[in-house]
Amino acid sequence: MTDEKLLELFAQMTLEEKIGQLIQLDGGCYGAEELSTGPQQKLGITQDTVDVSGSVLNVLGAEKVREIQNHYLSRSRLKIPLIFMADVIYGYKTVYPIPLALGCTWDPDLIRADYHITAQEASADGCMVTFSPPVDLIRDARWGRCLESPGEDPWLNSQYAKAMVEGFQGNMAPGESMASCVKHFAAYGAVEAGREYNTVDMSERQLRQNYLPAYKAAVDAGCKLAMTSFNTVDGIPATANRWLLHDLLRKEWGFDGVIITDYAAIQELIAHGVAADSRQASQLAMEASVDIDMKTGCYANQLAPLVQDGTLDQSLIDQACLRILRLKNELGLFEDPYRGADAARAAACVEDASHAAAALRTAQEAMVLLKNKNNILPLAKTGQKIALIGPYSDSKDIIGMWAVHADRARAVTLRAAMEIILAAENFGWCVGCPTLDDLSCLGEFGNIPAMKGVSADDKTVAQWEQEALDLAQASDVVVLAMGEHMLQSGEGGSRTDITLPAPQKRLMEKLHQLGKPIVLILFNGRPLVLSDVEPYCDAILEAWFPGTAGGAAIADLLFGNVAPSGHLTTSFPQAVGQLPLYYNHFNTGRPAEGSGHHGRFTSRYMDCPNEPLYPFGFGLGYHSAAYSAVTLSSHTLSAGGSIQASVTIKNTSSIPGTEVVQLYLRDPAASVVRPVKELKGFRRLPLKPGETQTVTFDITEEMLKFYTRTMEYKAEPGTFIVMIGPNSRDVQQAEFTLE
Ligand code: NOJ
Repeated sequence: MTDEKLLELFAQMTLEEKIGQLIQLDGGCYGAEELSTGPQQKLGITQDTVDVSGSVLNVLGAEKVREIQNHYLSRSRLKIPLIFMADVIYGYKTVYPIPLALGCTWDPDLIRADYHITAQEASADGCMVTFSPPVDLIRDARWGRCLESPGEDPWLNSQYAKAMVEGFQGNMAPGESMASCVKHFAAYGAVEAGREYNTVDMSERQLRQNYLPAYKAAVDAGCKLAMTSFNTVDGIPATANRWLLHDLLRKEWGFDGVIITDYAAIQELIAHGVAADSRQASQLAMEASVDIDMKTGCYANQLAPLVQDGTLDQSLIDQACLRILRLKNELGLFEDPYRGADAARAAACVEDASHAAAALRTAQEAMVLLKNKNNILPLAKTGQKIALIGPYSDSKDIIGMWAVHADRARAVTLRAAMEIILAAENFGWCVGCPTLDDLSCLGEFGNIPAMKGVSADDKTVAQWEQEALDLAQASDVVVLAMGEHMLQSGEGGSRTDITLPAPQKRLMEKLHQLGKPIVLILFNGRPLVLSDVEPYCDAILEAWFPGTAGGAAIADLLFGNVAPSGHLTTSFPQAVGQLPLYYNHFNTGRPAEGSGHHGRFTSRYMDCPNEPLYPFGFGLGYHSAAYSAVTLSSHTLSAGGSIQASVTIKNTSSIPGTEVVQLYLRDPAASVVRPVKELKGFRRLPLKPGETQTVTFDITEEMLKFYTRTMEYKAEPGTFIVMIGPNSRDVQQAEFTLE
């Protein structure tokens, strides 16, 4: 409808109807099954509130959506449709690798295409808004939600944020788009000590320089919604933080979309300690310009009295309501309240072969080869017997914790994929050990049958172990499919011990004693500490939670049908005590190397190197490559101009491969301390055997900008260092001057 018509509709609304638009309830309120992603609580709302509510949380399925919408509209005075919003984070029925793995593709175009497919699948099944992308910058692998982030780099995360929003929203055409909701605003990934929901406290410079850019990129890409984070920002919870939401997001960035809270976050302002009760909590959230209250009774029960006694300005409710109505209008809901949701179309859409093919390709690109001693990989398909051992050998728990609407049955296990490639006499498999010794750390989640992982009693464990040792003894190579329990990462999945679970390590040690080569395939949702198991392994392939095509993608890589090309977007620590750990750190006044100080009085640990086990940007292929020195088109960059930095790269092997060529910059003397390096560009470069190619990056003044001492965003004249290499550690460098 036209905006004029929309305003006419708005003019007819009562205060209760306007407030209703600001309320999001779960399916249970409409008689549908609830998919709970937060603590259960009684909302204390009446049927009248349900009848005027504005949106529904996490109910999907075309028929269910139609049924709820029909029932709702039949009781609604003004016939304003509900919006169905859900967590469709990295795939719908076809599930891609977790976002942390998607980051490792260094291929935003691929991710844009994947998310477009997801929009098609999910919108056909009734999803109108997705709570994605989460683009929280991460630096601490203890945090379980590392799984949801593309990684630790602000610039790279921004490329993904843009691609993901564009993929979901396209041109907002019904049937192939969903409105996108960037989250969790802001800086949720910086929770202290990696503990879920914990405090975030940082300088405004740090916030703007590193934590905000990816959200901003999503907003600039036209993202329709933003979700507040659970944490504090400068002592004020994000959901009540007027500076963050109103001054920065709305005024400074020009965001005129809908701000929704995270689950129950308005109510939680009381526990945070900034509101005495739900009345004050509602007032604070409203004044901060939060439009939608997800899953509490706060707005429902408190806003009307706040307006009626003159405490709250009704114009705030009017503005919020209008923003939501405009979103409904943009979604086309006044013309088609189901937005084309259609069970037959949804079913057909998921069967589209191109969707499975996309999931396979992305999983192949997302996996990172971390070690390949003596080029043990790729494995020969014939002439040797291969043992597949470990709790992930035949597991469908490879889709990751946050694929809540996935069709788990579609997941291809590694066993199934290897059986297609190998003749029966060349292959054997067994579970070998449970995922965890004790599932109690998983709490009530561990009781969900589909998420149980592999568990067993002591007697069975002993039998499994013997079976694994016998199989390994009779084989030439051992492939271990091991990792975190699927529920050990994701929301509420913070941990202090991020090594491989104990029963898996025990089995690996015993298998190592047999002297057979070991290839470790890792399934996990965060960087792990691998220092203790790395020496046992001849090869390590980081498969993450690779999604529905996971097993097939691993098998393709293992046997060389395709070569690995994934590169890490998070540093893998040597020890948990190094955390937070990230490549773009400061030098300090006493860097461990090159400071002029020696020994004890430098910035280092007594018991562990400063460096990660595997650095940001790292990943091996089956080929090898040689990089030339960096050449510059000029050693002087004038303001507004550009210079070119080039390297020549040769594939020095007889195997094709893809290099991810990375450009880093450093400003060694500025008005504020700048990082030792910052990623500013990259190129995926396929190289045939023996092929040589030159890669050229433009360097512009824009790339040199930062928040200066006076908080201006600009570049300062002086010397800069440009570095190019296959990862953040192994770089070649040159210098230039900005005039
Ligand atoms: C809580 C999570 O933090 C958020 O990411 C999610 O979108 C909401 N629950 C809704 O399920």
